[in-house]
Amino acid sequence: MVEKLRKSFQEVFETNKQPRTFLSPGRVNLIGEHTDYNGGYVFPCALSVGTYITIAPREDRNIRFYSDNFPDLGMIETSLDELDYNEKHDWANYPKGVLYMFKDQGHQGTKGFDAYFHGNIPNGAGLSSSASIELAMAIAWDALNGFEMERIPMVQLCQRAENDYIGVNCGIMDQFAIGMGKKDHAILLDCDTLDYSYAPVKLEGVKLVLANTNKRRGLADSKYNERRTECESALSDLQKVVSIKHLCELTPDQFRENQHVITGETEKRRAKHAVEENDRTILAHKKLQAGDVQVFGELMNESHRSLRDDYEVTGEELDALVEAAWEEPTVLGARMTGAGFGGCTVNLIKEADLDNTLKRIAKSYKQRTGIDTEFYVVDIGEGTREMINETK
Ligand code: GLA
Repeated sequence: MVEKLRKSFQEVFETNKQPRTFLSPGRVNLIGEHTDYNGGYVFPCALSVGTYITIAPREDRNIRFYSDNFPDLGMIETSLDELDYNEKHDWANYPKGVLYMFKDQGHQGTKGFDAYFHGNIPNGAGLSSSASIELAMAIAWDALNGFEMERIPMVQLCQRAENDYIGVNCGIMDQFAIGMGKKDHAILLDCDTLDYSYAPVKLEGVKLVLANTNKRRGLADSKYNERRTECESALSDLQKVVSIKHLCELTPDQFRENQHVITGETEKRRAKHAVEENDRTILAHKKLQAGDVQVFGELMNESHRSLRDDYEVTGEELDALVEAAWEEPTVLGARMTGAGFGGCTVNLIKEADLDNTLKRIAKSYKQRTGIDTEFYVVDIGEGTREMINETK
């Protein structure tokens, strides 16, 4: 792969420079949805698919981006002195946002670069291709300039690029899972303190399968920001009676005792989801550690119901795909993953007769929605890194 990317880089930029290649994964969240910005726990892992950046410095301050996922856009050109958001720059605003934040934090680069991007994360699937691009740019820019930024500050810098430059008010989960991922492990992350631990994902005879609704996540960003605002409003009502910084500091019992102070019914349901989902995530992690995949699966199902009924971020397609999976006796758990409103579901399915199970799920989903689904059997991969001596 690295060799192939080097050749493509040299062709596109008409150079014989020897570039460096970095790989940044996508992510899937096993459980703990819409808890990160409420100061709760998440339990994601990095995927083996991701975004490759193949990059070499230039002698001047110019920057050229090219992505073979968007060949029609051709070369996108800017410079170290023109890093402001520019609609015409399309996807390249993601890496530009990262460069902008490095500069903002006093890490100035003096030389521009040429960068060739290649991604194999399914497009629009809600597996965080944007955070993957951000971390890819960050690690490459750091390496080119020898800034030696630690990984967690780098993760936070990429979140800032998404919040303040792109304008999506996301939490820390995606960038953290991508920057800190570990092969065959999920990460239990406390999004308030950023304390984290790795949990081995050992699924004897069970596969982790993603199913794509193939529904693009339209409106997702504005709905996402709306949910955040609703949670903030519930929090400020609760703060009149309990001393908390985040919704997820409450246990479900404490929430029940105090929920009457939340003025809006909608806000109450949003907060209920956040508190209960946080509790489920802590329990789910314990169950997985104890090898109880059955209960882990049931908690995934509960998570979906809560995201459907209380948080209202699922929608027809995600519900149809999850319900199709729930009909199968070999499915231990199924839920939407990520922000919602489209994208993928995550499923735990027994290996025995997997192909036929997937065929039946696809058929049922097609009957309900008229859309074809696609499945990806997940390999949990490493976080963002340079591709040295890796042949794949
Ligand atoms: C998106 C955001 C994350 C997180 C999830 C929902 O992926 O980028 O920060 O809030 O939605 O859990």
